Amino acid sequence: METTIRPGLEGVVAASTRLSHVDGLAGELIIAGFALEELAQKASFEETIYLLWHDRLPTLPELERFRQELALRRALPQVTVDLLRAAASQQIPVMDALRMAAATLSLDSPVGDDAQTEAKTLVARFPTIVAAYWRLSQALEPIQPDPALGHAANYLYMLTSEQPNAAQVRGLESYLNTVSDHGFNVSTFAARVIISTSTDLTSAIVGAVGALKGPLHGGAPGPALDMVFEIGSADRAESYLRAKLERGERLMGFGHRIYKVRDPRAVVLAAAAAQMYHESGDLALYDLAQSVEEVALRLLEEYKPGRKLQTNVEFYTALLLHGLGMETDLFTPTFAIGRVAGWIAHCFEQQEANRIIRPQSVYHGAKGRRWEEYGSV
Ligand code: COA
Repeated sequence: METTIRPGLEGVVAASTRLSHVDGLAGELIIAGFALEELAQKASFEETIYLLWHDRLPTLPELERFRQELALRRALPQVTVDLLRAAASQQIPVMDALRMAAATLSLDSPVGDDAQTEAKTLVARFPTIVAAYWRLSQALEPIQPDPALGHAANYLYMLTSEQPNAAQVRGLESYLNTVSDHGFNVSTFAARVIISTSTDLTSAIVGAVGALKGPLHGGAPGPALDMVFEIGSADRAESYLRAKLERGERLMGFGHRIYKVRDPRAVVLAAAAAQMYHESGDLALYDLAQSVEEVALRLLEEYKPGRKLQTNVEFYTALLLHGLGMETDLFTPTFAIGRVAGWIAHCFEQQEANRIIRPQSVYHGAKGRRWEEYGSV
């Protein structure tokens, strides 16, 4: 019987989900029933997490309780801080430190913690790990979480030791909401494969962090920002980008496997970045990025006609997170702080009607080898 192999499982539908819907031709992203454009700008990140995990928005008392439950779980076990200190002394990349530290989080959970408690602990502590590690790697002491602050505000506070303003908090919440879920992306699928063995949530989330940190997935918003900085002024955009395309190089922040129109996440993040830069009173970088985008799209159409290369999520992620004062090394870990909500929601969904995920392979190795002829003597 003829067997068809789909490399990379491209085009394979592996499950149905209520969590998010990605339509690459219409440029549409739905998260738990809401158009991204609406959810990103209106919800707090706690509301988005609750929505993904419960398939409905919380009532006000439920939201207050949920916020408190997360806030009270933020502090890290001492052993996790010790591990981060050791990792910082070796200048290990932030995503590797997050993967290592996430694996320690079950250490101080009582045996038999229910999945909801484990889930809240993971979500609550991701920002603490990233901020603590960031500061340790800069030879600064970690800042204790402030339970009076919301999830996003507290992350910014733990990074900088300063209280963020309302525009910065809104900017980060819009970002975290935007990246909270995105269909069967690689790290989400990895989490579902792991949880399908009926293992614990922490194992699935550690695996997902490992998948996200690969450059083919976690992406590289850093290079997109470097490109804007290298261009420096709008009048240099055309010659710079043209030279890149002439050399056969790719323009970072453009093109997507699924989106053939403008990535809706880019639209939302561009609006969030515009608002934030506007409030800061310094629109120079935002204006430059817009000019670069305009020229890049025109040249991509000229050099790659019909390929439908549009602005992707990375371009405005870079601009937004940079505007929040983050260094490029923090971009992918901050993505993980948003996506962990979706990973956990997918694990819950997998558990609701679990069937172990176990595809097949076609053997193309040797046959008929005999030990006497082949083995060592
Ligand atoms: N700049 C210039 N050309 C690009 C391009 C880009 N950003 N993205 C794709 N192309 C070109 C390819 O060179 C190829 O041209 P060809 O047919 O003449 O060989 C064509 O468009 C199709 O490229 P392909 O690699 O098949 O597209 P893909 O769907 O597999 O790739 C990406 C998707 C995201 C990997 C790709 O667009 C890319 O590398 N973008 C830049 C990196 C980036 O922004 N990554 C973050 C993604 S969220």
